[in-house]
Amino acid sequence: MNRIKLNSDVSFSRIVYGMWRLADDENTTPAHVQAKIEACLAQGITTMDQADIYGGYEAEEVLGAALKAAPALRDQIEIVTKCDIVAPVGRYSDAKAKYYDTSRAHLLASVDHSLRLMNIDQIDVLLVHRPDPMMDHQETGAALDGLIASGKVKSVGVSNFKRHDWTLLQSAMNNPLVTNQIEASVVAPECFTNGDIAFMQEFGAPVMAWSPLGGGSLFGDPLSPMLAALNTVAKAQGVDATAVAVAWLLAHPAEIAPVMGTNNLDRIARISDATKVEMDRETWFALYTASIGAEVP
Ligand SMILES: NC(=O)c1ccc[n+]([C@@H]2O[C@H](COP(=O)([O-])OP(=O)(O)OC[C@H]3O[C@@H](n4cnc5c(N)ncnc54)[C@H](OP(=O)(O)O)[C@@H]3O)[C@@H](O)[C@H]2O)c1
Repeated sequence: MNRIKLNSDVSFSRIVYGMWRLADDENTTPAHVQAKIEACLAQGITTMDQADIYGGYEAEEVLGAALKAAPALRDQIEIVTKCDIVAPVGRYSDAKAKYYDTSRAHLLASVDHSLRLMNIDQIDVLLVHRPDPMMDHQETGAALDGLIASGKVKSVGVSNFKRHDWTLLQSAMNNPLVTNQIEASVVAPECFTNGDIAFMQEFGAPVMAWSPLGGGSLFGDPLSPMLAALNTVAKAQGVDATAVAVAWLLAHPAEIAPVMGTNNLDRIARISDATKVEMDRETWFALYTASIGAEVP
């Protein structure tokens, strides 16, 4: 599995494993989580994507229990986690509304929670989960630089940011933002034309693509033209539609790292099939045509 270099200290595996649904699995035992991580590692997938809010603020703890039971795993993986969403559940049950908090106090407290829950000393990449309309960029930027200086966080990126959100925060930081995690897939292709991917290419920072299978919606209608188009390519290349949907993202020159969310061990074991798919320009556009529902003008 190829890797993507974020800076001199941090690199990602080309495909990332996402843990949003980790706490929703009927089996959350440390042994089962370890089996998922090992199935990833066997394919060279070393990057695990978390967020404080996943599983109602419980998914980090599920990972932490696995890392406690099998401490040798820690040095074989990179851990990405996110913060700034405060939802009235779990430790924030008393919140009067769902909101974003990029204040220094909230960021520092969130990082301490994440480190403790995951049983780790350092987060490899901390992402600001959602752009905060009340962000004081000077305060947020200084807090994020401070977290890197403290050693609690190796590097910082963002998620769901538009170009203006990125440049505002970056203008108040000494450390470069390393990535933006956005929605991108054959069922969410807008990012390829609305500037979201373009500005990342311009800034030379790789993109992380969340819900690369549309959160499973890709498989909702077995007769959909999108699935038929994927299956045509899949059949010709001896893989399944998932591998082709992921390969479609991998083929783009923006260095897109798909973040896969399956809880199914068999599917996890086949994630890297995507790297075997040949995706030439014509095939890419045939799938893009199915994705946007029309031939390009
Ligand atoms: N930054 C953000 O704002 C943000 C937002 C959303 C997600 N994320 C990240 O992105 C990761 C991936 O998101 P996601 O879970 O939505 O990704 P996804 O890979 O697009 O979707 C995973 C879902 O699709 C289902 N699925 C996969 N293959 C299937 C198949 N062949 N047939 C039927 N269902 C299938 C899975 O079910 P099974 O478990 O049964 O396979 C699972 O429920 C998350 O874990 C999280 O790390 C980030």
